[in-house]
Amino acid sequence: MTTEPQPLLRIDELSTATVWPTSAVVAPGGDIAVAGVSLAELAERYGTPAYVLDEGEVRSRARAWRAALPQADVVYAAKAFLCRAVVDWVEQEGLGLDVCSAGELELAATRGFPPEHIVLHGNAKSPEDLRAALRLGVGRIVIDSDNEIARLAAQVAGPDPQQVMVRVVPGVAAGAHHKVRTGVAGQKFGMSIADGDALDAVGRILGQHRLRLVGLHCHLGSQITRAEPFAEAVRRVVAFMALIRERFGVTLPELDMGGGFAVAYLPGDPAPAPSVYGRLITETLAEACAAHDLPVPRLTVEPGRSIMAPAGIALYRVLSVKHTGGRAFVAVDGGMSDNPRPALYGARYTVRRVGRASDAPMRTATVVGRHCEAGDVLAESVELPDDIRAGDVLAVPAAGAYQVSMASGYNMTGRPPVVAVSEGRSRLLVRRESFDDLRMRDVGL
Ligand code: LLP
Repeated sequence: MTTEPQPLLRIDELSTATVWPTSAVVAPGGDIAVAGVSLAELAERYGTPAYVLDEGEVRSRARAWRAALPQADVVYAAKAFLCRAVVDWVEQEGLGLDVCSAGELELAATRGFPPEHIVLHGNAKSPEDLRAALRLGVGRIVIDSDNEIARLAAQVAGPDPQQVMVRVVPGVAAGAHHKVRTGVAGQKFGMSIADGDALDAVGRILGQHRLRLVGLHCHLGSQITRAEPFAEAVRRVVAFMALIRERFGVTLPELDMGGGFAVAYLPGDPAPAPSVYGRLITETLAEACAAHDLPVPRLTVEPGRSIMAPAGIALYRVLSVKHTGGRAFVAVDGGMSDNPRPALYGARYTVRRVGRASDAPMRTATVVGRHCEAGDVLAESVELPDDIRAGDVLAVPAAGAYQVSMASGYNMTGRPPVVAVSEGRSRLLVRRESFDDLRMRDVGL
């Protein structure tokens, strides 16, 4: 007997999104199917740990951003997760790409991503980063510090100046954790508007004929659950644009407001839709420009997590269940090497067993990894069936961003594969890192 698949999620009017991709349905036998593919079967076929990416979800989120800001440039922040297939999806959906290293840039170049739609930023760009950016002809380089100005200008060889932006710090505190807040002074990114550093840098860039200053760049932080901090930042940055015009007689045509748009990790977490952020940012920009009698600059936003996180699911197999100190620990075959976020930011996740149904009551457990650290926790205090046992498969949603891209080689367990699912089929995008891969880099004795 087959049961009709039931949608797992509904995004309600207030857009407190649930945590599963839109395509996810409850399948028979306690399973979940994503894009028509059973998660339990994927665990069987590709092994665990494995990361599953719903291609349709990535594409529809990219489209939602474009629809939210039809007059703006939407550039995907590659650091959330990048592989060649994602480069293609991003290009096909009409987005640009935000990169922060020669590595991300070279990967995009292997697919012929149009370099003029690439933005390179970074607080400390290496000579290789700058060389690759200039050789490939990236559209914008975001200058992050004073000493970068002359260094970059000296490297521009062609007849045309390199288009640059200045990363400014507006003094707006926002973001899920102090480690991802970049809108205030006292951290390593950008130049402060308040202390005059940003204005000095603008003057210096304007004096370099090999650089063309096209606008300002600002990134407040990450996992910002309200639109208002973006509006406040827009007001401050536009006021600064007015100051630049007053001081240097230059009207900057572009403004990049960075990324930082939140997603739901736990059901009910606040995660405003792209249209909510988009509306407030555009309205505030128009108002602020009118107030300063400035033309409205071309806007860019750089969502990373918002496009990628909800499309990903991590799959693990349970290796052991231990009851100790009044707590239940469910240990799986992955951990902080594929998801360092709980250890780094205290991030919380929800977990679901897939592929085996039972009538067992739910019980609070902590899902831990297999690494040699007590802090190797994947999901603190989650509800799992009481009969959970070794061999069961666990699925962790909202796993598409900053997990595989931040995966490490800790304990030489090898980084997990990434599998795309789309229209009832799966395909391997990134294969599992094998012992041979690790061994091959070990070249000396
Ligand atoms: N633009 C710039 C200049 C950025 O530095 C970042 C992220 C983004 C855009 C994209 O931000 P998103 O839309 O993804 O929030 N590893 C942390 C997040 C670090 C974000 C760093 N910069 C985490 O796992 O929460």
